[in-house]
Amino acid sequence: MTTFSEVYTNNPLQLHHIIPLDFNSLQAVPDSHIWPKSDDDVPTSDEYLSIPIVDLMDPDVVDRVSHACQTWGIFQVTNHGLSPSLLEGVEEETWRLFSLPVPEKMKVLRLPDGATGYGTARIAPFYSKSMWHEGFTIIGGSFVEHAKVLWPNDYKRFCDVIDECQKSMKTLAHKLLHIILKSLNLSEEQESNWATMIHQSETNALQLNSYPTCPDPNQAIGLPPHTDSLLLTILHHSNTSGLQIFRDGGFGWVPVSSFPGALTVNVGDLLHILSNGKFPTVYHRVVVSGTCHRVSMGYFYGLPVDSTVEPLSKVEFPMYKSLTVREYIGIKNECHEKALSLIRI
Ligand code: OGA
Ligand code: NI
Repeated sequence: MTTFSEVYTNNPLQLHHIIPLDFNSLQAVPDSHIWPKSDDDVPTSDEYLSIPIVDLMDPDVVDRVSHACQTWGIFQVTNHGLSPSLLEGVEEETWRLFSLPVPEKMKVLRLPDGATGYGTARIAPFYSKSMWHEGFTIIGGSFVEHAKVLWPNDYKRFCDVIDECQKSMKTLAHKLLHIILKSLNLSEEQESNWATMIHQSETNALQLNSYPTCPDPNQAIGLPPHTDSLLLTILHHSNTSGLQIFRDGGFGWVPVSSFPGALTVNVGDLLHILSNGKFPTVYHRVVVSGTCHRVSMGYFYGLPVDSTVEPLSKVEFPMYKSLTVREYIGIKNECHEKALSLIRI
């Protein structure tokens, strides 16, 4: 069976699409990082107040999550089971990693055909301009070797916190997916088959992100507009805003602030397909700041790479072709944002 990280070996990247800029040394944004302005760039204000907050202990949690996924594709969860001390620990380790000098971070650069390590966002090759961003991707357990390189005498702190975070995030992802499956009106047999599949899945990635303070934030972009490929993304971002979602109906880009103690959950492409578009994948981007260095941690959760995805439940008109997770990631790696439209029936 193919593992999630092996899916990336077929799409080797060029080094200039992996190595981030040395942001510390810059007084101005270099041409390589200046993005053209577009008309929809002006964000609306205060709209973020409406982003649903869902308490996982709420007796009506199925309806609330379902409503949030249908109307916004993104919501904040409270009572999510990750302790404040764990989230603080992850944040501390994230700062510890990104504060290292560039030559240190370069020692754990992601390989061109690899998945784990330091580097730019995977969507970099699709753009002629580069992002005001550096990341550290963790898939499976191989990050321990990277941590040993970064902190030969003190790697355990990082590893313990990441291990615990991966476990707790997985438990939370399972909980959320059970809730979501319930809201898709499946037969009992279907629901139980899907629950088993979800529990067996090792398709997940933890992504630490850093968006350094930018000399001219209006010219640069942290992450350009994109959708996440897997089922769900769970995001921890505590210190500053930067994440925005695109909302139709004249709203434009809506900032997503983090509600204290909550985690942000968003729908990804695979859930869009499974729900036959009932839960639309959310288009989002990250803007940067002239005064704050922002870090975030995203957990991406998917299905086993050899499993088949197709619209579930009793839909009369399936809108998407059936294909394996591996095939979908392959299409996304080649065609980026066109992937969903390419598999439309
Ligand atoms: C991502 C992403 C948002 C953030 O990593 O795909 O959208 O706020 N991150 O860092
Ligand atoms: Ni994203």
